[in-house]
Amino acid sequence: MSSDPFGLRSLDIDELRAKRGAKWGANPVPYSAWVADMDFPVAPVIADALREIIDRNEFGYPNWGGPFAMSPAAKLFAPRMAERYGWEPDPDRVFDMIDVIQGVRAAIQHLSSPGDGVVLHLPSYFPFLGTIDEMGRALVPVTQQDGAFDYDDLEVRLAGAGATTWILCHPHNPLGHVFERAELERIAEIAQRHDLIVISDEIHSDLIMPGSAHIPFESLGADVSARTVTVASASKAFNLAGLRWAVLHAGSDRMVEALRSLPGHYLGAPNVMAVTATVAAWTGGDEWLDAVIEVVDENRHALTGLLAEHLPGVAYELPSATYLAWLDCTALDLGDDPSTTFRQRGMRPAGRTAGQG
Ligand SMILES: Cc1ncc(COP(=O)(O)O)c(C=O)c1O
Repeated sequence: MSSDPFGLRSLDIDELRAKRGAKWGANPVPYSAWVADMDFPVAPVIADALREIIDRNEFGYPNWGGPFAMSPAAKLFAPRMAERYGWEPDPDRVFDMIDVIQGVRAAIQHLSSPGDGVVLHLPSYFPFLGTIDEMGRALVPVTQQDGAFDYDDLEVRLAGAGATTWILCHPHNPLGHVFERAELERIAEIAQRHDLIVISDEIHSDLIMPGSAHIPFESLGADVSARTVTVASASKAFNLAGLRWAVLHAGSDRMVEALRSLPGHYLGAPNVMAVTATVAAWTGGDEWLDAVIEVVDENRHALTGLLAEHLPGVAYELPSATYLAWLDCTALDLGDDPSTTFRQRGMRPAGRTAGQG
């Protein structure tokens, strides 16, 4: 085992339990494992940058070239994508957002109408289902067949579904599935044939396990980009979800026009702390991120062993991305509300742990 310069392997369970956020502080559940926060301490480079703001008492309006000028974090998005993934987003199509779901909902609002179908892989991160439901759109599910997404079935469902958009969770939460080029090309081809705009949520793209690679959806080509909106942030990979900042790249002309036509101030402006943290993450945080991926990689394998030993009825497919574990408990036969059983019989971990979100 390598050394632990970032304190990723020595988490204190009592410190975690004392946290006040949604994951550890929620009642009545002792621990909300579904909340996608990591338990690792934040990268020192981020903590230092935030501390500098506090030490210099710099809580006033930032000097970014005007109150609604693009933030320094948004300016870094294109170069970071080019460096990490060989994708060159158009800087003129990049917009600051407060969070990723805001970007997803703005895209649904402007690129579809009530009653329209929205394609979504199932199972899904539940706010996507909530988006479709609350915004009066209709779910067009991509279901699974023998452990793989069934696009033939989707084609049948798309006939007459009136679908106009596709929310692509890429990589996929909760499955940890990394869409490879052939699958992305199939998605792009279906989207093109059915005239769908793809809203690609790439928030987990920096959390790819060894052996896999992230391919930004818009990088497939100019035609694909023209019918895509990409939303991303540093918040998952660098554990900054509470700071609230995200970025949207509108490959779709319609989305650019929609966002530019909004009255000034409509979307607000980003928080200085969030932007500072993101700039620190994206300019100096990759060594920390590599160390995190090493531990998460070990943990996903450890979980396979633990389940085989203690809960052999639970199916778990090794995720290729994210720190989330999607456990199939069907065979445990826990009835209609398995959460009650987990709450009643769930073991509270003891002592120290090197766990994650
Ligand atoms: C796939 C995905 N999209 C969006 C979000 C939420 O992002 P935000 O808090 O920026 O809206 C999460 C959080 O877990 C997520 O997993």
